[in-house]
Amino acid sequence: MHHSLARTVTAAALLGVSGFVTMPAHAAPEALPSPTVFAHRGASTEAPENTLAAVRRAHEQHITWIENDVQRTKDGALVVIHDTTLARTTDVEQVFPDRSPWRVADFTLAEIQRLDAGGWFAPRYRGEHIPTLLDYLTLLDRNRQGLLLELKQPDLYPGIEKQTIATLARAGWLDADHLTGRLVIQSFSAPALRRTHELRPAVETGFLGSPPVSRLKEYAAFADQINPDEKNVTFAYVTAVHGLRGPDGKPLRVNAWTVDDLTTAIRMAALGADGIITNRPDVIRNGVQ
Ligand code: G3P
Ligand code: CA
Repeated sequence: MHHSLARTVTAAALLGVSGFVTMPAHAAPEALPSPTVFAHRGASTEAPENTLAAVRRAHEQHITWIENDVQRTKDGALVVIHDTTLARTTDVEQVFPDRSPWRVADFTLAEIQRLDAGGWFAPRYRGEHIPTLLDYLTLLDRNRQGLLLELKQPDLYPGIEKQTIATLARAGWLDADHLTGRLVIQSFSAPALRRTHELRPAVETGFLGSPPVSRLKEYAAFADQINPDEKNVTFAYVTAVHGLRGPDGKPLRVNAWTVDDLTTAIRMAALGADGIITNRPDVIRNGVQ
């Protein structure tokens, strides 16, 4: 049976959807392929988000995919941090009290590297720093992990798509090994994602959000994945996404975020989601794989 049809049939059976597909009387539902589990900002329930410690923790749990967020410093370095300000996840308010609102874009890399990015989470993580993208890629490579790289608020950082591609190239991440199953660039910004696709069509891309079904085809011109908030995931939506082919001719995939409880994770798997993005990767992996 065709892979996506197997998912459809099994999901329909699991969810009690009738009349959606016709199965031969003798056909038994096939097992759903396990969804890929992505450690959201690393193993971020157990270690400070978007730090190398969170990558290491996920590696200890044998999690092979990591999600992160990339932004740019005042002097043009790509760094890994979620918020557009440094206040929540570092001690910037103590180190630079006069620099409110502490925007990432207003600090040099040298300044950012003075900040502690672990103590806010737990005392034993004091001494963690905001990583550069390059350092982050080096660790992932050492661990043989894949990266779901989010361009965070790319409208604040003109040219970040090109710069990110250049950094990936410099780190050796645009070879066949990485391009075939170890790298996806995603964003909430459709224009940034389109630019990324046009710069390097071989890099897989994911749109963060859930465009209406009537517009999905437009997104399929530059996105290989549609990655929605789990609240917007329905059987009909996943089926509609799977029914389209992305720029490389393969069916579009769906990764749902951010799923931290097993009930929702199992529901996402039954609905046919290809991946689950979670802050609790070990718990979710143990429940759905
Ligand atoms: O990967 C999905 C998720 O990261 C999107 O939301 O705010 O956590 O970056 P956010
Ligand atoms: Ca993110």
